Amino acid sequence: MNADQPPLPTILVLASGSGTNLQALIEANRERDFPGQIGAVGCNRPNAFALERAAQAHIETFVVDHTKYDSREEFDGALMQEIRRHNPDLVVLAGFMRILTTDFVRAFRGKLLNIHPSLLPKYTGLNTHQRALDADDALHGVSVHFVTEELDGGPVIAQAEVAVAPDDTAESLAEKVQEKEHILYPIVVRWFCEGRIQLGSDYVTFDGELLKKPMRLPDN
Ligand code: GRF
Repeated sequence: MNADQPPLPTILVLASGSGTNLQALIEANRERDFPGQIGAVGCNRPNAFALERAAQAHIETFVVDHTKYDSREEFDGALMQEIRRHNPDLVVLAGFMRILTTDFVRAFRGKLLNIHPSLLPKYTGLNTHQRALDADDALHGVSVHFVTEELDGGPVIAQAEVAVAPDDTAESLAEKVQEKEHILYPIVVRWFCEGRIQLGSDYVTFDGELLKKPMRLPDN
């Protein structure tokens, strides 16, 4: 990097499990022109495979084990402290399976992103693939949104669709959706690092303009 250039925005990723979205972000981060830098990865589960992925990429990791805390507030307090120690410009939830307290969400308002496996506002919460099948939806997909106090309810930035086939199962749909996740999340993180997306009171601006509907990933 040129010494005259400002430092890249730093990204902190929170994950709970396998971390395939983290891997997609690590790979994006390796691209020469990627406008951000993953500075740390945090997990609430000490055995999350995401930690190994981070270690392999020489990224600093930390664990705040939720089972060691008596309340959600105490856990979130400890997590906030760890995040603040790293002072990131962006916190990316990548399969972080914890409901966050209002205090936490407010503390990082406007710099907290989540990826959710449905076409929000459809199917907040869990079992999204089965719910799409049960509803006979022809289209399913994934959304990236700013996190606000409402669970999976913050303004949506971008979505990618998948067609539901007659023989799809929850597992096959999950696979199709994850393929899209790994493309979509790095794109949105890139936009954030470039300063292109911002959270307003209950809306998103893209390049300074109100985003009237979520950006769509083109179908291949
Ligand atoms: C993804 O399906 C994401 O949409 C959801 O949790 C899952 C995380 O998967 N929020 P991975 O740990 O990134 O593989």
